Amino acid sequence: MTIRNVRLIQSGKPTVEGAGVHLNRAFGFGQTSEFDPYLMLDDFRGDDPELYQAGFPWHPHRGIETITYMLEGKAEHQDSLGNKGIIDPGDVQWMTAGSGIIHQEMPIGNANGKMGGFQLWANLPSDQKMMDPRYREIKSTDIPDVQLPGGGSARVIAGNVNGVTGSVSEIVIAPEYLDVRLPANATFKHPTTSSHTVFCYVYSGSGNFVPEGTALAKNGGLVLFEVGDEIMVTAGDEGVRFLLISGEPLYEPVAWYGPIVMNTQEELNTAMRELRENSFIKFRG
Ligand code: CO
Repeated sequence: MTIRNVRLIQSGKPTVEGAGVHLNRAFGFGQTSEFDPYLMLDDFRGDDPELYQAGFPWHPHRGIETITYMLEGKAEHQDSLGNKGIIDPGDVQWMTAGSGIIHQEMPIGNANGKMGGFQLWANLPSDQKMMDPRYREIKSTDIPDVQLPGGGSARVIAGNVNGVTGSVSEIVIAPEYLDVRLPANATFKHPTTSSHTVFCYVYSGSGNFVPEGTALAKNGGLVLFEVGDEIMVTAGDEGVRFLLISGEPLYEPVAWYGPIVMNTQEELNTAMRELRENSFIKFRG
């Protein structure tokens, strides 16, 4: 077994998205080959409603999956498949835009005005970019929380920890999505498919992401690993919480315009024309 080394550690970029939501972009546009099959990770934690309540009003997506994980507060959503509801803290919304979906996502703060979570974009392979859209909502109570042998626990949104499989499957890129919590100085080892892209995003405390030497990341730090069969993380003195995400790279050309990600410029032009001509939505469920 080779333990993965760290390829890079970066902190996010302050970004304004939607109708004026201030967030931190852990990675995005310009790093598509490094994070393949993932396109973007946004950390939208905030404690000032002025900076998030404008939300993400009606907008389209095509060619990707958007995966939203709420930590605090709520998000109200509606889409062109007819779904309508609230994402509560601990819930996950796994939306496969495929051929096209139009939706809105509106954040609502908790009693202290706090709201936050993460939105991950996963790419779809060329032969599935125009698949029928699909929407899955995974309630917090349906996400297994697995005790780890070295201390701490992991919520398994997708993937497998010690024989416990997450609620989301049948996704093309074989994703793994864990929310890992380690107490002070605990060590976590986790097997990874050697050909898959693996990264972690720290959102509380700090940890060391290599077995020997030092690769420290703290709140807001993104760690991308080299190839290998497993990763090893040791929590710092205050413990650590992080997302662990992995997936099978697609190695395909990426043509990206805003919320639409295809393989060629021509496909983007088609999407834009269909939006203007009101023929973008191919499937309403
Ligand atoms: Co969206």
